[in-house]
Amino acid sequence: MIWGSSGVKLLTIESYFIPFILEKFYETNHNPIAFVGVDILRAGTTLCYALHNGAKEVIPVVDSNEAMLIYNRLDRESVLLGGERNCKKIEGYHLGNSPLEYTLEKVYGKSIILNTTNGSALFKMGLGLKNFLIGSFINISAICDFILQRIKTDENNKVILFCSGNNSAFSFEDAIFCGCLVDLLIQKLKGKENIKMNDATIAAIQLYNIHKNNLLEFTKSTEHGRFLIEQGFEKDIDFSLQSDFVPVVPISNGFSFVIYK
Ligand code: MLT
Repeated sequence: MIWGSSGVKLLTIESYFIPFILEKFYETNHNPIAFVGVDILRAGTTLCYALHNGAKEVIPVVDSNEAMLIYNRLDRESVLLGGERNCKKIEGYHLGNSPLEYTLEKVYGKSIILNTTNGSALFKMGLGLKNFLIGSFINISAICDFILQRIKTDENNKVILFCSGNNSAFSFEDAIFCGCLVDLLIQKLKGKENIKMNDATIAAIQLYNIHKNNLLEFTKSTEHGRFLIEQGFEKDIDFSLQSDFVPVVPISNGFSFVIYK
């Protein structure tokens, strides 16, 4: 166990703004309290909302071939294909990637195969890691509470945040979410003297502090925000920026994401 100067356990938080670094964690002996995968617009928010509305599981895939392979193995009555390319629903799929589509009526009891441009690829990579969670603004307190609980009970002391970004590049909304989550952890831990952060985490907090008073408007002005608005999905941004009405922690079971119990 590592102890900070005040005798309190020292927490290390690392953030990564693009997803491909994740693979390096397969080879090392990292066993953090939590890995958190982030895709605010929109796959991560959609995944959280689907589980909240009673989906049995969300199975992330990288492309339609993989989606169809899994779809053909599962019982047709209890599986739905969801996802997008260029933000639009994929032809032949039951659902797009708008969180608003993932209502209780549609998803209750179903396995959802999720195929999106950036988010589902990151989440798929995360399936291979223990304690890989999905974080979004709509379940931020649940994620924060999971981490705080584990700080008390685990020998480990590290949290690693992965942004899915936008086509292999940085995206503001994912980085700002990381800043918001770390800010919340700092508040709950009553100070940051016992938290060690990498530069990306410090940058994420700074970005969050710059934009926290107009988060919604700022998100609408970002690259992906503008594209979603052009495609008619402004309501999804409004939905995805709401804080904390979904008390679920999606966790990987090696094949899919389910609610942590
Ligand atoms: C993605 O995974 O790239 C996104 O969720 C894109 C979107 O549908 O907004």
